[in-house]
Amino acid sequence: MLLNRAVLLFILMSLLVPVGADTEYDSYNQSAEDESPQLDYTYPYWCHSVSLTNGEVTCHSPRGGGYRGTLGSRCKMTCDRGYRLIGRSSIQCLATRRWSGTAYCRKIRCHVLPLIPHGRYTCSQGFYVDSRCDFTCRLGYRIEGEHSRTCLPSGAWSGVQPVCSDTDPPKIKCPPSRLKVADPGKLTARVTWDPPTATDTADKSLNIVLVGQNPDTDFQEGAHVIRYKVYDQARNRAACKFIVRVEVRRCPDLPSPLHGYLSCTSVKNNYGATCEYHCDGGYERKGVSSRVCQFNRSWSGGAAECTPMELKSDVNTSSALLDQFYEKRRLLIVSAPNISDPDYQLQNLMIQKSDCGLDLRHVTVIELLGSPPQGTGRIKENLLQSDVIEGLRQAFRISRTYFSMVLLDERGLDRERFITPVSQEELFSYIDSFLLDEEERERLDLHRDFCD
Ligand SMILES: *[C@@H]1O[C@H](CO)[C@@H](O)[C@H](O)[C@H]1NC(C)=O
Ligand SMILES: *[C@@H]1O[C@H](CO)[C@@H](O)[C@H](O)[C@H]1NC(C)=O
Ligand SMILES: *[C@@H]1O[C@H](CO)[C@@H](O)[C@H](O)[C@H]1NC(C)=O
Ligand SMILES: *[C@@H]1O[C@H](CO)[C@@H](O)[C@H](O)[C@H]1NC(C)=O
Repeated sequence: MLLNRAVLLFILMSLLVPVGADTEYDSYNQSAEDESPQLDYTYPYWCHSVSLTNGEVTCHSPRGGGYRGTLGSRCKMTCDRGYRLIGRSSIQCLATRRWSGTAYCRKIRCHVLPLIPHGRYTCSQGFYVDSRCDFTCRLGYRIEGEHSRTCLPSGAWSGVQPVCSDTDPPKIKCPPSRLKVADPGKLTARVTWDPPTATDTADKSLNIVLVGQNPDTDFQEGAHVIRYKVYDQARNRAACKFIVRVEVRRCPDLPSPLHGYLSCTSVKNNYGATCEYHCDGGYERKGVSSRVCQFNRSWSGGAAECTPMELKSDVNTSSALLDQFYEKRRLLIVSAPNISDPDYQLQNLMIQKSDCGLDLRHVTVIELLGSPPQGTGRIKENLLQSDVIEGLRQAFRISRTYFSMVLLDERGLDRERFITPVSQEELFSYIDSFLLDEEERERLDLHRDFCD
């Protein structure tokens, strides 16, 4: 029997009727019927028994009696659930000994359900009536709509087709938060990490977005929030974050030496910074030349000091004396005929408390007094040899007969002369304006109070 096809069976039932059920039937044969149909309303087998595959035949004989095949019997044809009647729904047993029509039951079929993207369905009985088709979605997708459809007796499916939609957000995991110490000598740290990967039940390729600073770049001191966001193709979103903290390790501030200063790399006191000791002109460093801020926040080595340079006053020539000051100190040569010279005395009075200020300006005072054989020359308490005194007088044309002062710069060049006493303010103002370089001026401003 062919699938989907109900078969009409309107059969001459002679073979199926139990033999001997009715003896009278045997007395009739085809030829007799053809020749002389004698109407017999009582004969129960006037028409052949009718049956309907997948259906039911209900007959009613007008003259009473339950026989379906009597002449004039009417039969109603009804199909079982799931079948549709094709043909006559009501037939009658005619005088010709035939039924007035035929009918059969055809199996009702719903249309083939379309496939749904990202999902599938399975049906209990194919596409026939009462078959239930259950929809399932692929991993990562969820059914939207009804989960099943049923083939109705009308041949239509119940409900509407569901869809599989991706409602599962992707998964993403950030690397752990981290603390980095700034690289030595820097206020930043280079921080790197492996960008996270994301997974999604539905999508293979995901769009991961970094919000924040890129890995393998220099991070400033402080906390930085790094976020990653990921979207799947259905725009489901997931995010994660972690924190990059950069710590700058710092040593305590290193004090500048007295009569000197520090020059430091980086920002002076961060891990890795190196500070070099420098001494003012006329001072010499005692101790380490530099110190490094170490990881444990302490400075390497011990503090250096700047001590006054040792002056050799027992040199034979003026140039040997001057060489000792070359590029280190300025010189103020004060000359007077004798110690009781009024200008000299006045000058001494005016700058008697200027030692500190002169030192800040890197000025050493040389005094030349009187004439040979009583002539003297000295730097503070150190007496100079007479050859040196004469040498200086000649080199800078300094007279023995009157008061005068010569100001030499750090290269020993004669920069200014005074033949009358000058006040401390005048002298300092001249030096500050014409002899100091930029850096000296800055440090002078820094230490000006030092002399008060
Ligand atoms: C069939 O009908 C013919 C005459 O029409 C008769 O001779 C014959 O005996 C009948 N057969 C039977 C089996 O009744
Ligand atoms: C710091 O570390 C250095 C060596 O790296 C060590 O010599 C020094 O003692 C340490 N200082 C402190 C305070 O721990
Ligand atoms: C001074 O000169 C004499 C010779 O003229 C020499 O012997 C002596 O070493 C010199 N002194 C110095 C300190 O240069
Ligand atoms: C000092 O020098 C002045 C000239 O400047 C002179 O008049 C005076 O007599 C000198 N005094 C002594 C003690 O030599």
